[in-house]
Amino acid sequence: MGLKVGITYNLKKDFPKQEDQPIDHLEEYDSEETIEAIQEVLERDGHQVIKLGGTPEVIDRLKDSSVDIVFNIAEGVRGRNREAHIPALLEFLNIPYTGSDPLTLSLTLDKSMAKRVVMSEGIPTPRFKKVERIEDLQAIDLCYPLFVKLCYEGSSKGVRLDSKILDPSMLKEKVRWLLETYGPPLLIEEFVPGPEFTVGILGNNPPYVLGVMQIEIKGSSPHEAIYSLEVKRDWEKRVRYLCPPPISESLLKRIEEVALRAYRALDCRDVSRVDIRVGEDGIPYFLEINPLPGLSPLYGDLPIMARSMGWEYPRLIRTIFHHALKRYGFVEQ
Ligand SMILES: Nc1ncnc2c1ncn2[C@@H]1O[C@H](COP(=O)(O)OP(=O)(O)OP(=O)(O)O)[C@@H](O)[C@H]1O
Ligand SMILES: [Mg+2]
Repeated sequence: MGLKVGITYNLKKDFPKQEDQPIDHLEEYDSEETIEAIQEVLERDGHQVIKLGGTPEVIDRLKDSSVDIVFNIAEGVRGRNREAHIPALLEFLNIPYTGSDPLTLSLTLDKSMAKRVVMSEGIPTPRFKKVERIEDLQAIDLCYPLFVKLCYEGSSKGVRLDSKILDPSMLKEKVRWLLETYGPPLLIEEFVPGPEFTVGILGNNPPYVLGVMQIEIKGSSPHEAIYSLEVKRDWEKRVRYLCPPPISESLLKRIEEVALRAYRALDCRDVSRVDIRVGEDGIPYFLEINPLPGLSPLYGDLPIMARSMGWEYPRLIRTIFHHALKRYGFVEQ
């Protein structure tokens, strides 16, 4: 069945470089190679592909192009609802699209909100406090070591090798730097020692685990390793991806269960990637869920995981698309 498929996305190159922006300002956005890779898979399957982008011109392009469905990977431009903007527009125009709906995309981008929902289901996640101003630190009653990150960002924006916080003076210094460099809000969490895993989940009714991948940072103990911006940018040299991971069957099952429960609790659709660290108590703790996981065929964690599980890139893209087609009744199986 050949459909007219739009792709919505935000490219790094669509944003002008500004001197006063932090070095990871554009970290979330995609490169053209990723869009072309998705396009190639869809075209090979007989679909007509229209690149719609993710700037305000997308509104006219959507009206003019009359697409049947959109493959959405747009990160959006600003605010905690940015990932929800394109899906909300598509919903308004009654156009089907891949992936989660606006409520889920907003809820999961705001890590503190996602954690509240996950906690309400009894899923383990580190204790935390959302912070808007330096004065809020007075009310912190968390146990050190702590970890500080931005509340509404991904791709390890704002996360550095020194994001683990050992005492109140370090906390104050880090919070001040993050507030000045990126602005509020921040999320302060209790540090979970690790090892760290990321779990790929696909599908609906029921969703299933594509794979569990351990993130091993070369030269760091698994209890200390942080999958920081420095590490992600230099992944070829600094990261060893272990998929399937060398852990017991029972730990694997518990990690999968936490990931699946989080996916369900947050009403994710078609695809997501869940980040988990296992504490000293052996409990897998939910850190965050990414319903728009990076799909770069080269360095995206989900495509790397898929490859390790014997799924070439086209199969991953085709499967995500297929789950969306099924939800809208374009196909039966
Ligand atoms: N509470 C914590 N304890 C220990 N390490 C943490 C904690 N929270 C985050 N980290 C480390 O920081 C990294 C980035 O954090 P997180 O996954 O929450 O942010 P992100 O930038 O949204 O990631 P992504 O690139 O997956 O979108 C994690 O992969 C992990 O290594
Ligand atoms: Mg993450």
